[in-house]
Amino acid sequence: MDPRYEVLGDASRLAREFVDGLAERPVGAAASFEELQARLARPLTDVGEDPRTVIADLVADADAGLTASAGPRYFGFVIGGALPAAVAADWLVATWDQNGNGAVTAPALAAAEAVASNWVLELLGLPRGCGVGFVTGCQMAHVTCLAAARNAVLADVGWDVEADGLQSAPDLRVIAGAQAHVTIARACRILGLGAARIRVVPSDGEGRMIAAELDAALREHDGPTIVCAQAGEVNSGAFDPLERIVEACREHGAWCHVDGAFGLWAAVSPSRRVLLDGFRQADSWATDAHKWLNVPYDCGIAIVADVARQRGAMAATADDIPSNDTNVHLAVKSTPEFSRRARAVPLYAALRSLGRDGVADLVDRCCDHAHRIAVRLAAHDGVEILNNVVLNQVLVRFLDSDDVTNAVIERVQHDGICWVGGRRWHDRAVMRISIVGWQTTAADADRSADAILAALRAVIAT
Ligand SMILES: Cc1ncc(COP(=O)(O)O)c(C=O)c1O
Repeated sequence: MDPRYEVLGDASRLAREFVDGLAERPVGAAASFEELQARLARPLTDVGEDPRTVIADLVADADAGLTASAGPRYFGFVIGGALPAAVAADWLVATWDQNGNGAVTAPALAAAEAVASNWVLELLGLPRGCGVGFVTGCQMAHVTCLAAARNAVLADVGWDVEADGLQSAPDLRVIAGAQAHVTIARACRILGLGAARIRVVPSDGEGRMIAAELDAALREHDGPTIVCAQAGEVNSGAFDPLERIVEACREHGAWCHVDGAFGLWAAVSPSRRVLLDGFRQADSWATDAHKWLNVPYDCGIAIVADVARQRGAMAATADDIPSNDTNVHLAVKSTPEFSRRARAVPLYAALRSLGRDGVADLVDRCCDHAHRIAVRLAAHDGVEILNNVVLNQVLVRFLDSDDVTNAVIERVQHDGICWVGGRRWHDRAVMRISIVGWQTTAADADRSADAILAALRAVIAT
């Protein structure tokens, strides 16, 4: 081997050591940001250093600050692990180092991404003709989809955003549920639609948009309208009544966008897809591969039913970009990016390694583990489960007290058996448990529930 590349062997060995230790290392970080920055702030030399030294030092300096979020008992935010085939494909994407914007710069990778696009559509049961763009995450998937939506609903009233921008454009109304994810408002800000102008529709106790309230909101405004529905509320995992929402959008000529960052994958589960009834009639969908599909960061997915709308909003044109119309998913035409990594190649590998049944089993397993933890915790005095556990998210409150709940969360994080975060839910502090990792087993679920109960006992004893 070329000695300059021996560092790749080092990286492979160090990565193996990391994944081998994942299940048993403390799940949270053991060092603070300041400590880590001080360790990593080695002198930047004039002459450079041996790559093997750089990588050995990087791993040594970073180790105490690495969380086990890729492991089996990290339940914070909504963070998936990384399947072995996906990690390996990701390494190769970096090694091949090709600009994944299209078939001229990266023919093989553009082809793999096109295949992954078709597999995503097939798994979700969406028509093959939809446009698919692989972006950094669900946030940018919203930006991509809502740009297409904005341009489409304004085009319907004779306004060409692509040519004329938004100055003097007709009034456009965005409607979203009270529990819409913050990335929706941020997308509206980025797109010049104004976060404060979103018409917020009340939601119910589980965080679902109330359909009758949406009807009223739609009646208020007769012009261009975009409705942002949600499949999988980030706290409760609840689903908006999508069938009703899509119908109402059709009736009022509104565009229906669905935020399904993780919840869209309920579509692959025979027992849970009922939660999504009606979703296929929407106009656009935003989801992630780096959450439930367990692809390494970063990989979001923007899907638009009318591919021409997606291209109209996103396509870059230049003399040296051929219009490769045999690939409807061409990245430079379906995403806001120009140069980019071919981030769907790891998704290609993940889906092949799982197969259709494997994807369904992954989703079902995580939901079953969430339910298992909820049941085990609920059996204990003073523990309350605040949501209806329909998917993979569990909201827990202890002794009906903000202080106790926050103290238990802190204790669990400190103990390092599992990692859970805290949120406010209907103005009360809650522990949020989110299970989307491929490695989590029933034994991990039990061990984590026991660790949480041990933390509660320790808090009560102090
Ligand atoms: C419902 C929902 N939408 C959007 C997002 C944002 O996703 P990303 O972090 O991939 O941009 C999240 C993240 O958890 C989410 O849960």
